[in-house]
Amino acid sequence: MLAKVLSGALSGIDAYQVEVEVDIARGLPQFATVGLPEGAVKESKDRVKSAIKNSGYEFPARRITINLAPAGIKKDGAAFDLPMAVGLLTATGLIKEDAARRFVIMGELSLDGRVKPIRGALPVAIAAGDWPVDGLILPRENAREGAIPNSVPVYGVHDLGEVTAFLNGERGIEPCSVSIPELFAGADHNGEDFAEVRGQEQAKRALEVAAAGSHNILMVGPPGSGKTMLARRVSTILPDLSFAEALETTKIHSVMGLLDEQQALITQRPFRHPHHTISDAGLIGGGSNPRPGEVSMAHNGLLFLDELPEFKKNVLEMLRQPLEDGQVTISRATTSLTYPATFMLVGAMNPCFCGLLGESEDSCSCTPTMIERYRRRLSGPLLDRIDLHIEVPRVQHKDLADPVDGESSAVIRARVEAARAIQRERLAPFNLHCNARMQARHIRRFCALDDQGQKLLESVTDRLGLSARSYARILKLSRTIADLAGSESIATEHLAEAIQYRGLDRKLG
Ligand SMILES: Nc1ncnc2c1ncn2[C@@H]1O[C@H](COP(=O)(O)OP(=O)(O)OP(=O)(O)O)[C@@H](O)[C@H]1O
Ligand SMILES: [Mg+2]
Repeated sequence: MLAKVLSGALSGIDAYQVEVEVDIARGLPQFATVGLPEGAVKESKDRVKSAIKNSGYEFPARRITINLAPAGIKKDGAAFDLPMAVGLLTATGLIKEDAARRFVIMGELSLDGRVKPIRGALPVAIAAGDWPVDGLILPRENAREGAIPNSVPVYGVHDLGEVTAFLNGERGIEPCSVSIPELFAGADHNGEDFAEVRGQEQAKRALEVAAAGSHNILMVGPPGSGKTMLARRVSTILPDLSFAEALETTKIHSVMGLLDEQQALITQRPFRHPHHTISDAGLIGGGSNPRPGEVSMAHNGLLFLDELPEFKKNVLEMLRQPLEDGQVTISRATTSLTYPATFMLVGAMNPCFCGLLGESEDSCSCTPTMIERYRRRLSGPLLDRIDLHIEVPRVQHKDLADPVDGESSAVIRARVEAARAIQRERLAPFNLHCNARMQARHIRRFCALDDQGQKLLESVTDRLGLSARSYARILKLSRTIADLAGSESIATEHLAEAIQYRGLDRKLG
């Protein structure tokens, strides 16, 4: 007696088809799983056995072999519980033979036969659109997630008995449907808005410039000056996510099993703010059973690193690849996985150990050596990849008490979107969509300066001893500032503003 059931497994953030083959033969009772099962899959046997018994079916006392094909790839996770159980019930004749083959089935089983949520339903649902199947059977909690790509009908199930009745045609289940426009309409940024930030006009302007070109930015300021508050609001001025971007970001969160059952689609740009004690695998991704890290969770959104100098140096060093390539590659002996990781980096730090440098004459107790040491914790190569460094001073009392709201996020976002539209059009032939991603040849072509600008930049470069990288960053930033102003050419005032945003080059250079 041989039965075959289709299921899916993940490789990175994409899914591939897995065939669960169940063979029941005469012989001493035995239950073996083959096809490189790992961790949770090895333990499936016990869950499947109990679930079948506790759902009121007989468990065959024979020699059972379950193969997960293709057998050459390691498989982990509990999502094969349900297809294994369905395969066993098919092999013993309790489920009609041709029924199970028509569906892709995924689900974890609890010992009493209930179906529990799984990771990675979305990538499987997307892939299943290309497979010759009539539908996808998923745990009820994952049904909305699976219905988002609208690729195949998705049936949400609650327990093993329900699946059996459905496959035998004794019971109908309504396929799940979701309204994408409704999910997008629900996006509201938790009510956070730039209007709530008092004063800090310069910081707000710098964040607008950063958002307009998707430039990385570092804020330096004393405790309580509003750095975290400002960073949280950057995503409210970034352009809205497109459906394609939302789907890509949601896939990563689906693989991590972090999606909300109801919302199911991530419609707002993510804001990730890992603590500085995070490990390199936590930030970049990896582990023995590789998972995406915070940089991928922030894909198409914002990665906020508060107290930047407190992060371990080797962890920060690892940010270089994603900052450069917009993706992370994790290599293992047998495989190599790639996770997307295109994000805007927002960093925050105090000016020195005690955080009070520059506040008033005698408030800071750090010696110049200490200040130097604190700043040196940021490696040159990382700092080089941050386009804007700004100072965020403490807000004056009169500003804090001001009853008038500042400019709202919606107004700022409109300007950002206009500047992005210009960039998209200009960079479309190169398959780029924002100024921050320009390479040397694009900079040469699109960031030409007039004579006056040339002179200014020359004198600044010589006086401050700027590196070649800083030079390129200033040009890219000037381009964004000119785009915000709707100017075709880069004027001296645009260049002058960009130079102003390279404050730390002067201090560290
Ligand atoms: N410009 C501002 N307008 C209104 N409220 C502000 C402003 N700046 C700070 N606050 C208030 O102060 C609180 C603390 O600010 P926040 O946590 O952003 O400071 P921080 O610069 O991140 O400090 P730390 O360096 O200690 O992390 C905010 O929650 C907010 O209520
Ligand atoms: Mg803070």
